[in-house]
Amino acid sequence: MIRVAIIGAGHWGPNLIANFHNHRRSEVVKVVDRDAARLTAVKQRFQDVEVGSDAEEVFCDDSVEAVVIATPTKTHFELAQAALEAGKHVLVEKPIADTSEKAEQLCELAERVGRTLMVGHVFVYNAAAQAAKQYLVDKELGRIYYLSMVRTNLGPIRVDVNAAFDLAAHDISLANYWLEAEPLTASAVGGAWINGGIEDAVFATLRYPDEVLVNLHASWLHPRKARDITVVGDRRMLIFDDMNMSEPLRIYDKQVMDDRARASFADSFTSFRMSVREGDVLVPRVQMSEPLRNECEHFLDCVGSGEKPLSGGAEGLAVVRALDAIGCSLAQGGREIEVDAG
Ligand SMILES: NC(=O)c1ccc[n+]([C@@H]2O[C@H](COP(=O)([O-])OP(=O)(O)OC[C@H]3O[C@@H](n4cnc5c(N)ncnc54)[C@H](O)[C@@H]3O)[C@@H](O)[C@H]2O)c1
Repeated sequence: MIRVAIIGAGHWGPNLIANFHNHRRSEVVKVVDRDAARLTAVKQRFQDVEVGSDAEEVFCDDSVEAVVIATPTKTHFELAQAALEAGKHVLVEKPIADTSEKAEQLCELAERVGRTLMVGHVFVYNAAAQAAKQYLVDKELGRIYYLSMVRTNLGPIRVDVNAAFDLAAHDISLANYWLEAEPLTASAVGGAWINGGIEDAVFATLRYPDEVLVNLHASWLHPRKARDITVVGDRRMLIFDDMNMSEPLRIYDKQVMDDRARASFADSFTSFRMSVREGDVLVPRVQMSEPLRNECEHFLDCVGSGEKPLSGGAEGLAVVRALDAIGCSLAQGGREIEVDAG
């Protein structure tokens, strides 16, 4: 049994409490939140769990082996740092920190103290996202041209970080995982209408190696909840719709055929003959499982084995580097910014 403490029991924290509480390999020994009302709600749902208001109680409790952090982004660094320094394994919600310098410090610290540092990039534990990755790895889509990633909803409106940090963190983690690469540059524009200085909607473009473009639309100011991802390759195209629970993936056997080589003469515009091929649409059967459950399971595995997590500190840092570049570009009116390669 791995003894886990959870800090932050707001909207998301209870999902983590439930997963570690119901797990045969972990025990939730304490839940900490500064808000007494949240602790009352925790007590009602998980009667046997001890609650407290000060994270320090967890750090100095030698019986706690792992700390799960589900507090607002701005607090991640300080709490994760304290937990690691106290010798705990850490699962911190996305994004790992609010700047890449802090993310880097956490990676170095985890390495130094020899503890697991994992980030809640929950989409890489999604069975449909993993099936989609296999299509990319097997080159089923051919050469990848671009990804379009739309993540919108009305709320929750954050006051500590912008919509890119809050929402696009998921998409960047997925793009990095699928493409097995990190973006080279970022350009972004956005609008801060609700809370001055904090963008509610961000439209960003990331350039990856091999001329792959990734377009992100992240907004908490939108009438429709969408988690729509399109991958366009030169042989096939793929759509991952995380809102479609039964059929999240679709593979479109569609492509543009280049007939130029077969043209009988090459001295006129008509020799540039392009046609489109509209083939079948395949809906692969995906054995669905709860992504957060898979994530928590993986964390316990890594704590037990010492293996590097699929979404470890390095992956968390890569996401924040891209987010930092998006932030720089937002501040400079959309100028293309190089992503710090470390
Ligand atoms: N993986 C996902 O799909 C997903 C979904 C939602 C949120 N999140 C992440 O989870 C985190 C929390 O999001 P949320 O929506 O639950 O936010 P929230 O504001 O609803 O909850 C945060 C809670 O943390 C508590 N808190 C803040 N600072 C604290 C401290 N120093 N010590 C103890 N408690 C403290 C607050 O009282 C609050 O109850 C964020 O990092 C967010 O990005 C992830």
